[in-house]
Amino acid sequence: MANLEVDFCGVRFKNPLAAASAEPTLNAANMKKCIDAGAGAVIAKTMTDSPAMRELTTRAKWRFLNDKHEVCRGKVPRSFSLYSRSGLALEPPAEFMKEIRETVRYAEENNAVVIGSIGSVELDGWVELGKQMEDGGVPLIELNFGCPHPKLMPGVRTGMNVGQDFDYACEITNAVAQAVKVPIIIKVTPQVTDLVQFSGMLKDAGAGAVTLTNRFIGFVPDIETGKPLIYGKAGIGGPWTKPLTLRWINEVRATFGNDLPITGTNGAYDWRDIVMFIMSGASVVQMCSAVMCYGYEWLEKQVKGLELFMDEKGYGTIEDMLGIATDSAIEYSQMPPEKASVDAEVCKDCGMCLKACFSEAMQQGDGNVYVREENCVGCGGCYSVCPVKGAIEINPY
Ligand SMILES: Cc1cc2nc3c(=O)[nH]c(=O)nc-3n(C[C@H](O)[C@H](O)[C@H](O)COP(=O)(O)O)c2cc1C
Repeated sequence: MANLEVDFCGVRFKNPLAAASAEPTLNAANMKKCIDAGAGAVIAKTMTDSPAMRELTTRAKWRFLNDKHEVCRGKVPRSFSLYSRSGLALEPPAEFMKEIRETVRYAEENNAVVIGSIGSVELDGWVELGKQMEDGGVPLIELNFGCPHPKLMPGVRTGMNVGQDFDYACEITNAVAQAVKVPIIIKVTPQVTDLVQFSGMLKDAGAGAVTLTNRFIGFVPDIETGKPLIYGKAGIGGPWTKPLTLRWINEVRATFGNDLPITGTNGAYDWRDIVMFIMSGASVVQMCSAVMCYGYEWLEKQVKGLELFMDEKGYGTIEDMLGIATDSAIEYSQMPPEKASVDAEVCKDCGMCLKACFSEAMQQGDGNVYVREENCVGCGGCYSVCPVKGAIEINPY
């Protein structure tokens, strides 16, 4: 049977699935449910010294949207978006630390890891929250430089407002890294130009790992009322963000390899996505929106799915899959020449491929489609739209 254990910054996880910092990890009771559902780790809701960010959570709002970006009622499709307004942990730090301590004790009894998450509005505050979290017994602390909501709240300098200011972010990282002994993980916003450069700066400033990435800010009007959903701009994400996140995981993994461990978040829906995150280079994969939609038992199903996949494919350990897709990715200039071919016996002559060909390579005649080879660039558009399996193939030449 596959071994799902992961060593992340020197901490052993029984499996790579972490419940991300959000409402499913709002307090000890919720975090225990994530642990009971088999998560390797729980990342507590971000503890903060900002009263505004605590108060926002008491008025949190979210809607699952379908692929037309209308509010779902009942069935939520796999291609959903989660459009939300929410703050950080409800309790002031001293109170919230009781939730952390209780969860740390429970995690120790149940072979799980508790990761603390912090978000301050001042340099000294980050250090203070980091120390409190370390005193609470967590083996890892995530610094939340990614939360999109402070960007929408004038005067609240935390979350993404920090993640967009690389120098200030590094100053905080350095100060916290000096103040605590446990490794710190920096959770970044994707709404910057270059996360490879930023990750390198954070590593130099003392980050033990990075979390790629928090969510985006969006705006969704309701065309019936002419008003925006949930009153205006909000955080947005969902399974569709996965390739955008994996792009950064790919680049950071390709640049720093094992020198900068990565946890991935923003777009992991099920065990297949966990595999994609790992193959791109994330050792630990965080999940939030899908749990918010389907409940805690979703986590359990994904751990089982991952284990079955690994057994079926013969991957003995997570390490066997880590970064393998990134390692085998090649540059544009290295792509081998390819051309389409049509199997006349299988082709139904529907002509779909002609509509998707912009090189005049796909031609119709004598009851089936054929390829004018000198025109074909091997783009693969025809292969994708052909409704008959085996009628079109793309081959090296
Ligand atoms: C309602 C809600 C609340 C969240 N609260 C936090 C938070 O307190 N701290 C944090 O670092 N991220 C927070 N996040 C971001 C999640 O931890 C996670 O990174 C994000 O949802 C992307 O993962 P997903 O695609 O699995 O949902 C929140 C997300 C949502 C939807």
